Amino acid sequence: MDGAAAAAMAAAVVAMLCLQLPAVGFYNTSCPNAESLVQQAVASAVANDSGLAAGLIRLHFHDCFVRGCDASVLLTSANNTAERDAAPNNPSLRGFQVIDTAKSAVEASCPNTVSCADILAFAARDSINITGNLAYQVPSGRRDGNVSLDTDAVANLPRPTFNASQLVANFAAKNLTDEEMVILSGAHTVGRSFCTSFLNRIYNGSTPIADSGLSSGYATLLQALCPSNANSSTTITTVLDPSTPTVLDNNYYKLLPLNLGLFFSDNQLRVNSTLNASVNSFAANETLWKEKFVAAMLKMGNIEVLTGSQGEIRLNCSIVNNGSSSSSVAAPRIKTTVPSYSGSTASLDEIATS
Ligand code: HEM
Ligand SMILES: *[C@@H]1O[C@H](CO)[C@@H](O)[C@H](O)[C@H]1NC(C)=O
Ligand SMILES: *[C@@H]1O[C@H](CO)[C@@H](O)[C@H](O)[C@H]1NC(C)=O
Ligand SMILES: *[C@@H]1O[C@H](CO)[C@@H](O)[C@H](O)[C@H]1NC(C)=O
Ligand SMILES: *[C@@H]1O[C@H](CO)[C@@H](O)[C@H](O)[C@H]1NC(C)=O
Ligand SMILES: *[C@@H]1O[C@H](CO)[C@@H](O)[C@H](O)[C@H]1NC(C)=O
Ligand SMILES: *[C@@H]1O[C@H](CO)[C@@H](O)[C@H](O)[C@H]1NC(C)=O
Ligand SMILES: *[C@@H]1O[C@H](CO)[C@@H](O)[C@H](O)[C@H]1NC(C)=O
Ligand SMILES: *[C@@H]1O[C@H](CO)[C@@H](O)[C@H](O)[C@H]1NC(C)=O
Ligand SMILES: *[C@@H]1O[C@H](CO)[C@@H](O)[C@H](O)[C@H]1NC(C)=O
Ligand SMILES: *[C@@H]1O[C@H](CO)[C@@H](O)[C@H](O)[C@H]1NC(C)=O
Ligand SMILES: *[C@@H]1O[C@H](CO)[C@@H](O)[C@H](O)[C@H]1NC(C)=O
Ligand SMILES: *[C@@H]1O[C@H](CO)[C@@H](O)[C@H](O)[C@H]1NC(C)=O
Repeated sequence: MDGAAAAAMAAAVVAMLCLQLPAVGFYNTSCPNAESLVQQAVASAVANDSGLAAGLIRLHFHDCFVRGCDASVLLTSANNTAERDAAPNNPSLRGFQVIDTAKSAVEASCPNTVSCADILAFAARDSINITGNLAYQVPSGRRDGNVSLDTDAVANLPRPTFNASQLVANFAAKNLTDEEMVILSGAHTVGRSFCTSFLNRIYNGSTPIADSGLSSGYATLLQALCPSNANSSTTITTVLDPSTPTVLDNNYYKLLPLNLGLFFSDNQLRVNSTLNASVNSFAANETLWKEKFVAAMLKMGNIEVLTGSQGEIRLNCSIVNNGSSSSSVAAPRIKTTVPSYSGSTASLDEIATS
């Protein structure tokens, strides 16, 4: 068999084994402006609030890990039992309004054509381009689901209290490898967290502590920020990467050995020697991480996608088409106002060793 034949056979095998999205440029003829309209909506929202880029990247992740990339994360329910109402998503998930704005623009240009799931994937891609100067093409042709249950979000999303083996198992359940788990965790180079996601690392009850993987200097800063009784109504947040909070770079991997990973789960990447070796390679080579991050994002964007005549093209991203009256009523969203916190200006080494 010559090289071309081998390559063709390899491609055929890959096509058989992988659940493939139709194509890059799925809307080339049906809605040629789709991707640029989404890009404009994302660019203008991020120009106004840079944190929305992180929000949109996480929105796509939380969509794909729960019932696949089918925009189920965007659905509302009359009794607040949709995915977005679940504790891992509420109140922390953000960027819904950006998707709604993009969807309106796309509907005005080509009605009933572009899925909310694809808009989410485009918006995450655009957010990565803006924050990381990292451009790539994303296949499209996803269709929208019409089921969204808070219990599915709780059961499928990884938690910040997970240890290394739990993290690996959670990603394996989505056919993502140990290395891809480490690669995708690098998304914590942008964005923010509410206090509740790291409270157990800095307090034992009301007593200040620093867990064994957290710099005591950093713990002190976080204790000054978050009261020990912080709960889901506490609107205080802090950035995940205090060195470059709005830039998609490899600093996440450089922070971990300084004991500056914010979540217990972040620090778990260091305690296992296999995962730690990946951390070290990405800390040493940003180009390597970015290449692998794009590949892993594309794989994540393929999880359990609906294609062809499966699902539907939702007209309003938060409501299923022709739904029953109970599911078509959009519940009022919990609104939180989030004061901005710029973090310490002390150097990272000072924070780590103080
Ligand atoms: C490895 C397991 C993961 C865990 C345990 C985890 C956990 C968390 C938690 C607890 C937060 C903060 C939520 C809050 O505000 O309280 C967060 C934020 C974030 N996560 Fe993850 N995450 C994981 C993987 C990922 C992946 C795979 C991505 C994307 C590819 C991602 C992207 C983000 C982003 C961008 C933010 C900031 C969101 C914002 O600023 O609005 N995370 N994550
Ligand atoms: C859409 O157009 C782009 C750019 O010309 C091309 O790379 C892509 O293959 C096209 N996709 C389809 C499905 O036509
Ligand atoms: C800009 O962001 C502020 C809050 O950060 C928000 O209140 C306002 O509506 C946003 N404006 C636009 C045009 O998105
Ligand atoms: C990435 O951003 C650049 C600069 O704004 C833009 O020219 C380019 O079209 C974007 N690429 C993609 C794939 O969206
Ligand atoms: C990780 O957590 C699971 C579930 O709590 C536990 O069974 C397991 O022993 C833990 N693994 C390690 C290495 O701590
Ligand atoms: C993982 O791969 C297996 C075997 O190809 C497939 O049956 C399963 O549906 C996949 N799971 C996900 C979440 O993609
Ligand atoms: C938390 O405090 C209690 C009571 O002071 C103590 O028994 C326990 O060992 C502490 N837990 C940790 C993880 O330090
Ligand atoms: C959060 O804490 C505040 C003050 O400690 C309390 O009044 C409120 O009921 C708590 N909210 C939740 C949702 O637990
Ligand atoms: C590290 O994690 C991998 C993947 O879960 C596991 O196979 C290996 O046993 C772990 N190594 C250690 C030293 O815990
Ligand atoms: C993780 O890598 C660091 C180098 O940054 C090394 O010093 C440490 O021993 C490694 N830890 C494990 C558990 O392999
Ligand atoms: C970094 O990774 C890139 C991409 O894999 C590779 O081409 C380059 O040689 C690596 N650089 C170093 C210094 O190893
Ligand atoms: C759910 O999706 C199917 C397509 O898979 C569609 O035919 C059906 O009308 C939808 N159900 C509701 C209640 O909207
Ligand atoms: C919430 O409403 C849905 C229909 O929209 C219904 O199927 C579900 O049982 C309700 N859940 C609760 C807890 O009432």
